[in-house]
Amino acid sequence: MKILVTGGLGFIGSHTVVELAKENNEVIIIDNLYNSKIDVLENLEKITGKNFKFYECDLKNKEELEKVFKENEIDSVIHFAGYKAVGESVKKPLMYYSNNLVSTMNLLEIMDKYGIKKFVFSSSATVYGNPGIVKYTEDLGRGQASSPYGTTKCIIEKMLEDLYFSDNTWNISILRYFNPVGAHESGLIGEEPNGIPNNLMPYIMKVASGKLEMLSVFGNDYPTPDGTGIRDYIHVVDLAKGHVKALEKMKEGVNYYNLGSGKGVSVLELVNTFEKVNNVKVNYKVVGRRDGDLAEYYADPSKALNELNWKTEKTLEDICRDSWNYEKNNK
Ligand code: UFG
Repeated sequence: MKILVTGGLGFIGSHTVVELAKENNEVIIIDNLYNSKIDVLENLEKITGKNFKFYECDLKNKEELEKVFKENEIDSVIHFAGYKAVGESVKKPLMYYSNNLVSTMNLLEIMDKYGIKKFVFSSSATVYGNPGIVKYTEDLGRGQASSPYGTTKCIIEKMLEDLYFSDNTWNISILRYFNPVGAHESGLIGEEPNGIPNNLMPYIMKVASGKLEMLSVFGNDYPTPDGTGIRDYIHVVDLAKGHVKALEKMKEGVNYYNLGSGKGVSVLELVNTFEKVNNVKVNYKVVGRRDGDLAEYYADPSKALNELNWKTEKTLEDICRDSWNYEKNNK
């Protein structure tokens, strides 16, 4: 299959390119390098031993985007490209709405024009809002996302439903990610956030490597066993494999899948495992809760197991080891 991957040099996109290439798919990558580096392309070629056709292109530029479709006979599209920083989206909502929505609309319009109707969308558990239970199943439906970033995911999901309603030859898979972490075991690709990280794992790595002094643990008074927040951390390679399965098992309609491990892990459990596996110290202090954080949630991933034959294989130890390996490799 010939697969177009938007945002293919980003964190999840790049790992997905590796897994697609392993299954002998032909992969075309689009990325505007806003939140990624061109060196990733070279590293993808090192890991896979394959060359990829690459377009440096912003999906907001419809003419340039259309060129990609004119020049290639694409079978399906996996759409990762988009802004993803929760906190930044609160400060710059219009930038998030305009970028994430316009890019996706351009992409879908051009796909429609060229008769390409297989689409995998990178969504997030944030679309569930605050459903009042901790184990999320797909049939909970969308709630109120806690940030403009999350709202763009909700709007795009709805847009895809409306598109399918208007033309039921579309095959759409919406993948709702829990907390993607880890890195490829080669240490060549991983997560490279700009500036000071907002998410827990990238922050832990910067503290362990001495680039940042201290991790702030946001609250230890939640109703959880150790009082710190609980999330479902998923190794990015497992997540990437979920996309390959979603493409293989693609069917008519709009189909939703949670991609998570099904296990909740607290902030302190993650810190302790990271220290133990890597034999490093992570200095931390407990501070107040962060606005908008929920105490606890994790995936019920049984739909993905039943319908896609997918489940996570990597452990929390693998996650900690591979993350640290990437950090050390990229000092
Ligand atoms: N945390 C800390 N200190 C930090 C950073 C995070 O204690 O410096 C805690 C948070 O309070 C939370 C846990 O670590 O309990 C995980 O926080 P992250 O910021 O790593 O991840 P979130 O669960 O807040 O965010 C994730 C995704 C978003 C998505 C959101 C909602 O990164 O893309 O889930 O589903 F929108």
